[in-house]
Amino acid sequence: MQVTPAQALAGTVQPPGDKSISHRALMLGAIASGQTVVKNFLPAQDCFSTWQCLEHLGVKISSPDHYQTVLVEGRGLNGLQEPEQVLDAGNSGTTIRLLLGLLSGQQFFSVLTGDASLRRRPMDRVVKPLQAMGAQIAGRQAASRAPLAVQGGKLNAISYHLPVASAQLKSALMLAGLYCQGVMEIEEPVPTRDHTEKMLQYMEVAIYKEQNWLRLPGGQQPVGKEICVPGDISAAAFFLVAAACLPGSRLVCRNVGLNPARTGIIDILKQMGARLEIRNQRLYGMEPVGDIYIESSPLQAVVIAGETIPRLIDEIPALAIAAARASGVTVIKDAAELRVKESDRIAAVVKLLNNLGVKAQETPDGMIIHGTDQPFRPAELDSYGDHRIAMAGAIAGLMAQAPVTIRQPECMAISFPDFENILLSLRTQ
Ligand code: S3P
Repeated sequence: MQVTPAQALAGTVQPPGDKSISHRALMLGAIASGQTVVKNFLPAQDCFSTWQCLEHLGVKISSPDHYQTVLVEGRGLNGLQEPEQVLDAGNSGTTIRLLLGLLSGQQFFSVLTGDASLRRRPMDRVVKPLQAMGAQIAGRQAASRAPLAVQGGKLNAISYHLPVASAQLKSALMLAGLYCQGVMEIEEPVPTRDHTEKMLQYMEVAIYKEQNWLRLPGGQQPVGKEICVPGDISAAAFFLVAAACLPGSRLVCRNVGLNPARTGIIDILKQMGARLEIRNQRLYGMEPVGDIYIESSPLQAVVIAGETIPRLIDEIPALAIAAARASGVTVIKDAAELRVKESDRIAAVVKLLNNLGVKAQETPDGMIIHGTDQPFRPAELDSYGDHRIAMAGAIAGLMAQAPVTIRQPECMAISFPDFENILLSLRTQ
């Protein structure tokens, strides 16, 4: 993919449905009673991985109107069937980790795998507590890497302090918790996205929250509902950063999910001096949404660390481009989790910036970025097959001296199949 320098971005954009919420709507719909109707589902590769795995488990999922609505025929808590084939989660960490939790509670055998990237990612954070609950899980490297074989069965509730701030881990344990005898207790070190607990509560499952503790009594069956999926702030992030950086830009992102566990990017862009305003805040189903108005302005460097990190973990590739355009030195720390995402995002982002002529260094848990007011150097950028690295490279291309090439751009379809077209439509030249 070639990206030519742009003068500015202008117009209105509706980001696609939220990826995290789309996965959860299919999975919770699958074990609910009755039908679940999903509105504004994200029709992207990752969510199709979840869709296909659930079909192999006997769940009927369909869309009468090209994904504007998706219908999930709930099979009830104990209605899933033993899959005849290996379940392939593709590139999706959310699919494999949440399904590990769900499958641990089933009275049957299943095998989960994924693509080369997913097979490199750590699964022991999920496998260990599930084994402590009574699930039998075997796999490569002491069951820490996929493929993983799960013999589910009777589970006992445990009280568990999450060793990493991970919504995927928390959600996997909540899904297993539905199949437990007793009350599952989970403590997070730092709050992470709470879409699973919100959706479960909306589907009439009782969950008790107290500070960083969650308590979920087992044996509860979700009730099928209409689920509205807000626009994905993680997709909007690339346009927000590009509009903040490119002089003369003016953009509106409509119907963007504004769950406080996801809006770290808004706080940081504002701290950097972005001219950003949220209007028309409202509830869309169970999640807050709003329209984000943004205009370009000079940006200053910031420190991104601590409890903010889980609130913008997926936005760091985009924010790194903003940091490269800011005056001063931006420091990102407490983000070692980036090393085990779809790619090693610390290494990938620093290499991308260096290729563009930006001074940046890796640290064990983050990076240091020296902002520049010079246009980026034209370069060939590797996406490492990581959708968010590819899209970060594409917005950097808008700010380069001459066209930039992105290698393996197809991976953008993992979360945002329409990214290139929308970006083209927003260019003023
Ligand atoms: C997600 C949680 C985060 C995030 C990922 C989606 C989710 O991962 O990076 O893109 O849907 O729960 P971790 O749970 O590994 O932090």
